[in-house]
Amino acid sequence: MTDEILQLILDRNATMTENALRKCYAEDEDLQVLLDSERYSLFAGGKRIRPCLTLEFCRLFGGEDAAALPFACAVEMIHTYSLIHDDLPCMDNDDMRRGKPTNHKVFGETTALLAGDALLTGAFEVAGANEAAGAEASAKAVVYLANCAGRYGMIGGQIMDLEGEKKKLTLDQLLKLHSLKTGALISAAAVMGALAAGVSLTDSCMEDVVTYAENIRLAFQIVDDILDQTGDAAELGKNVGVDAEHGKNTFLSFYTVEEAQFYADRLTQEAVAVIRKYPGSETLCALAEWLATRKK
Ligand code: IPE
Ligand code: IPE
Ligand code: MG
Ligand code: MG
Ligand code: MG
Repeated sequence: MTDEILQLILDRNATMTENALRKCYAEDEDLQVLLDSERYSLFAGGKRIRPCLTLEFCRLFGGEDAAALPFACAVEMIHTYSLIHDDLPCMDNDDMRRGKPTNHKVFGETTALLAGDALLTGAFEVAGANEAAGAEASAKAVVYLANCAGRYGMIGGQIMDLEGEKKKLTLDQLLKLHSLKTGALISAAAVMGALAAGVSLTDSCMEDVVTYAENIRLAFQIVDDILDQTGDAAELGKNVGVDAEHGKNTFLSFYTVEEAQFYADRLTQEAVAVIRKYPGSETLCALAEWLATRKK
């Protein structure tokens, strides 16, 4: 698959997700500031990688887009909330995100905090009410998502990342940090897509979904670390060089850029190898490859 075709598919999936996300909002003039703040970050752009994984894994196993979309929305809401909070002064203190001033720079810290809270809560509302996927798949997806987003998932990764600013982590600790901070939600996105198609958590093909996700998610964070050092702020839509400024533990604390890229490429090949046998997996294979070479 060419990059152009992959981009067309990514754009189409992003538009579908954004249309579904818009429908999650009803106007309420008393809550205008909160709703504006949530939507400011939610519709600021973003690659929509996680919703794309949900949609593509659902399609791979013969499911309907309608069953995947609520899960895709939920994952993107949680991801967006995590970015709003990640950028707060008490965390990474960043002032640019998705090519725009960060949420707290525009709406203030209090509203940014609450917008994040509302996105997190709203995610579970939309995932739990996924009638197209059926009650059993929805319940499984909600628990899986909560686990990946929570204390033994993303939040756990964020605390390791922030606590780590004061000390040097071992490579094993960094691998754990990355797998929790960024990895868990990427796995949730993929697994929820398969759940939406009726695949059960105990089916053997779910093991392939998880293996693919575990490989691309580590590659994804390695590339995020590389781009923080070598990327272009305008293209990335966020500031660069901030990891070193904060004394963060990243892949580049252990490897050169070339070694880290080699590592990411190897993980990508492993992801592709496990998924290639499924008819219709071309998009997921191309997506894995693009993620390892992305510039944004
Ligand atoms: C950035 O994620 C934050 C990390 C988890 C490393 P993305 O690179 O997916 O950000 P958007 O959604 O495209 O803005
Ligand atoms: C963000 O990781 C992870 C979460 C938001 C959970 P980073 O702090 O590395 O993400 P960027 O580099 O600010 O996008
Ligand atoms: Mg951070
Ligand atoms: Mg950050
Ligand atoms: Mg980063």
